[in-house]
Amino acid sequence: MKGIILAGGTGSRLFPATLATSKQLLPVYDKPMIYYPLSVLMAGGIRDILVISSPADLPAFRRLLGDGTRLGLRISYAEQDRPRGLADAFRVGRDFIGGDPVALILGDNMFHGEGLGQMLARAITLASKGAVVFPYRVANPQHYGVVELDEQFHAVGIEEKPEHPKSNWAVTGLYFYDNQVVELAAGLKPSKRGELEITDLNNLYIAKGQLFAMPLSRGFAWMDAGTEEALLQASQYVAAIEARQGLKIACIEEEAWRMGFIDTDQLAVLGQSLAASAYGQYLLALAQRHKNIRN
Ligand code: G1P
Repeated sequence: MKGIILAGGTGSRLFPATLATSKQLLPVYDKPMIYYPLSVLMAGGIRDILVISSPADLPAFRRLLGDGTRLGLRISYAEQDRPRGLADAFRVGRDFIGGDPVALILGDNMFHGEGLGQMLARAITLASKGAVVFPYRVANPQHYGVVELDEQFHAVGIEEKPEHPKSNWAVTGLYFYDNQVVELAAGLKPSKRGELEITDLNNLYIAKGQLFAMPLSRGFAWMDAGTEEALLQASQYVAAIEARQGLKIACIEEEAWRMGFIDTDQLAVLGQSLAASAYGQYLLALAQRHKNIRN
């Protein structure tokens, strides 16, 4: 399974904060926003990852994440010259995807909750037979893609930002697809707003009877950071949980270590390179604790 992080767009709803930088590089509390979706792919065991962004912002992502080797990943990059919609990711990423199944996650989406790893493992199995989406109950469904579910939680249809939503289930920005997605995306036509809609793509899977919905329970947190209020709320959420537990959310170095992509010595080296910050000290303490237990 390959993974794509879509980190394009102009972030215009956050102007002027995003005039000189990408939205997905803004901090959510103590780390750049893109760490959150990246850590989700990693928790699913996905190590081959393509980051898509604008030509102006791509160099900064490269500076931040490099080729991924230090995290035991293979990270590559592709340009999207202007925002053409989420489904454009499968056109831009065609060569990267090759003959494999693929997960797409939006660069501003955060998922946090118990059992994420197991859920992703189930999704990867299901995606061998079609597509998987993760609906989440929200108070303001008209801002999202909204999925109608029957009593067995099968998807009946999805509408993009409907005025009169048929349910409160928003389609979150994490999607798993089999390799059909490449051909299906290639055949899409732009919508009225001129974009290749992920919702149109997902409705094609529904028509084939191949879209699986895995609703996220209310114990899960799903946030996107598209407005200043949402961004602040996300930061406050992360700050509150991290302070309470003394554990970090979406710490990509820790995730790489827990997943076995890197060993404890490599974790310590990563901590050392960031040692001036509390974040770096956290990594060093993690490595140290583990060594003490082992010795
Ligand atoms: C996009 C999708 C929408 C989905 C949302 C999740 O909307 O079009 O279906 O619910 O992401 O974050 P956008 O945020 O690009 O307007």
